[in-house]
Amino acid sequence: MTQDSDKKPSEATGQPPESGSRAGSGFETMLGRVVVERGLVSEAELQEAHNRRELDPGGSLADVLLGSGYMTPSQIDRLRSEIESERSTQRIPGYKIVRKLGAGAMATVYLARQLSLDRLVAIKVLPRRYSDNADFIARFQKEGRAAAKLNDPNIVAAFDVGNSGEHHYFVMEFVDGETVYDRIVANKKFDEREAVSVARQVASALRHAHERGFIHRDIKPKNIMMTSNGVVKLADLGLARALSDKEAAEAEAGRAFGTPFYISPEQIRGKVDIGPQADIYGLGATLYHMVTGSVPFTGKNPSEVMHRHLKDQPVPPDEANPAISSGLAQIIEMMMAKDPRDRYRNAAELIEDLDLVADGQSPRHARSALDIASVVSSIARDTADEPVVVRSSGSSGMSGLQMAIIAGLIVSLLVNLGLLALLASSTG
Ligand SMILES: Nc1ncnc2c1ncn2[C@@H]1O[C@H](COP(=O)(O)OP(=O)(O)O)[C@@H](O)[C@H]1O
Ligand SMILES: [Mg+2]
Repeated sequence: MTQDSDKKPSEATGQPPESGSRAGSGFETMLGRVVVERGLVSEAELQEAHNRRELDPGGSLADVLLGSGYMTPSQIDRLRSEIESERSTQRIPGYKIVRKLGAGAMATVYLARQLSLDRLVAIKVLPRRYSDNADFIARFQKEGRAAAKLNDPNIVAAFDVGNSGEHHYFVMEFVDGETVYDRIVANKKFDEREAVSVARQVASALRHAHERGFIHRDIKPKNIMMTSNGVVKLADLGLARALSDKEAAEAEAGRAFGTPFYISPEQIRGKVDIGPQADIYGLGATLYHMVTGSVPFTGKNPSEVMHRHLKDQPVPPDEANPAISSGLAQIIEMMMAKDPRDRYRNAAELIEDLDLVADGQSPRHARSALDIASVVSSIARDTADEPVVVRSSGSSGMSGLQMAIIAGLIVSLLVNLGLLALLASSTG
C-alpha cells in the first residue's frame, strides 16, 4: 500500500487524506451539505464559514470548520472518507445511490436503485486499500460469480461484482429489515420460539450452500437479516476474504459484537481445511447470544476472547437463561463443541433437532453427543492435545451430566474390581 507518510492517515479508512486537487469543490459542496444534514452546524453557521473562507482563498471549508471549533479533526476525517466513498459509488454505472445502509469492518453498504430493472439493490463497496491486492480482487470476483449461482430463499442473492475506478463493489439483493444484531441491541434477547425459527432458516441456507461447496466462515448476528414477515436472509455468503480468519476477526477488534465472539476454534488455529462445522459453530455462538443476551465468551481483547473459544466452556445456555428448554441448550452445546468432529455432521441433522425442539420434543442428535463413548473419547482427545489446560473458575469444563456419567463409570469400575477380588479370594 502506498501511503504518504507526512500526512496523518484517516481514522476511518487508514487512507491518507486526499490531496487538495482531488478534494476539489465537489468535496467542499458535499461537506457543506452533510454537516448541515447531520446537524453538526446550522445553515447560518455554514454560511458564516463560507464567508470566512472567501476571505482566505488558500483555505478550505474543512479548515474553517476546524478552526472555528464546529468540528474535530477526527469528525472531518470520518466525513471525508464517507464522502469519498459516496462519490465513488455515485459513479457506479447503472445504479443510483439512495442512502447508506451500514458499514462493517471491511466495507460500506449502500441502498441503490438499479436503473435498468428499476429495483432497489444493496451495494457493498470495498475501501481503496483492497485495490492494491490483485490476489484479493481475483478471489473477490471469482467468489462473487460463484455466489451468484446460489439460489435459496434464505440467502441474500448476489447480482453483480465489478469495479468503478479504484473501488470494487458487490451488488446484492436488498433486504428491507433488520439484522439479528440490531434486534439483540434493541431487545436484548429472543424468545426460544423465535430464536429456533431464525436458526432453522439459517441452517437451511447453510445446507444449501454447504451442499454446493460453500463455507460462509463469518456467521454472526450482523450477517443474519430478518424481514418484517419473519423471513431470514443470510448475508455475505461467498464474499472473498483478503485476510485470514484470525486477522479478519482482529480487524474487527473494538467493534462491539465483532467476529471474535463467534469464530470457531479451528479458524482461530488457522486450519486450512475449514469445513461446514465452522459455520455450525458460528451459528451456535450466535444462537447462544440470541437466547441468553450475552456472547458465549467475553474478554479484555480479541485474543483473550479467542483463547477462551479454544479452552473454556461457556456457562450452559439454560443456566444463563433458565427460561430456555434443556433440548435447545443441548443443541447449542453440540453446535459449539470444541472439536468439529463432535458437532453436527451437517446442517440437515441440525435442522432435524431444531424441528424436534420446536415441536416440544427432545433433540435426537444432540443427546447422542453425551453418550459415554463420545464423552470419554473427547476427554481423551482434550488431554492429548492440551497438556496444560488452565480453566478459569466459574465456567469450568464438564457439564453436570458428564460428571455424573464419569462418576458412574468410576463407581462401576470399583464395584467390578471388588467383585473380582472377592472371586479371586474365594477361589484361591
Ligand atoms: N443486502 C443487504 N440489505 C440491507 N442491508 C444490508 C445488506 N447487507 C448489509 N446490510 C447492512 O449493512 C451493514 C454492513 O454490512 P457489512 O459491510 O457486511 O458489515 P457487517 O456484516 O460486519 O455489519 C450490515 O450490518 C447491515 O445493516
Ligand atoms: Mg456483513
